[in-house]
Amino acid sequence: MKMRVLLSGLLSSLLLCGVVVANDYVSNGGVASLRGDTELNTQNSAAGLKSVVEQDKPYDADYVFQPPLIPHQIRHYEMSLNANKCLSCHSWKNARESGATKISVTHYEARDGQVLADVSPRRYFCLQCHVPQNEAAPLIENEYERVESLR
Ligand code: HEC
Ligand code: HEC
Repeated sequence: MKMRVLLSGLLSSLLLCGVVVANDYVSNGGVASLRGDTELNTQNSAAGLKSVVEQDKPYDADYVFQPPLIPHQIRHYEMSLNANKCLSCHSWKNARESGATKISVTHYEARDGQVLADVSPRRYFCLQCHVPQNEAAPLIENEYERVESLR
């Protein structure tokens, strides 16, 4: 029974795809989004690589408990199951020699608060939270301000 529901779902989504693909031109109705006014079935050309701001001092935080912004280039830094380039400088073991800031104790805590002997899996993919910066105009105007206590 479940299988039949699954199959019919699959079939109808395939049919739907067929209809969309058969159409050469899918209009976005003149509505522009963050990807511009590129039509729905056309691939937007990729944005050029951004130049990352590099500076010697850390960025000021905008709110308490903010993951600090990355003040250096990270291009070609491998992050995979076998290697984590960030930890080659930022782990407690390597930080002294590399001169990088140590990852904080929170990076060793598992979800249930247990403190692990090595970086916690939920803190392994650094770029989930830490990002380098680029001098760019905001995509959308906003009036965000740093919290009072950090101004
Ligand atoms: C070659 C060593 C090295 C590697 C690799 C490296 N960093 Fe760094 N990082 C540093 C140093 C040194 C600093 C101190 C600030 C400076 O001088 O740029 C720093 C600063 C930082 C900061 C700011 C800390 C603060 O207190 O504000 C963050 C966040 C950071 N790095 C994240 C990363 C992430 C994420 C990666 C991997 C994508 C990474 N770093 C890879 C050396 C490194
Ligand atoms: C889930 C989000 C998250 C991930 C993933 C994460 N961090 Fe962080 N990081 C934070 C937050 C939040 C802070 C600031 C509060 C704190 O220290 O916990 C921080 C703080 C830091 C600091 C500054 C420590 C200090 O004492 O000032 C460094 C350096 C850092 N992280 C590096 C890393 C590196 C390298 C990785 C990957 C191995 C990583 N982080 C993964 C959220 C994250």
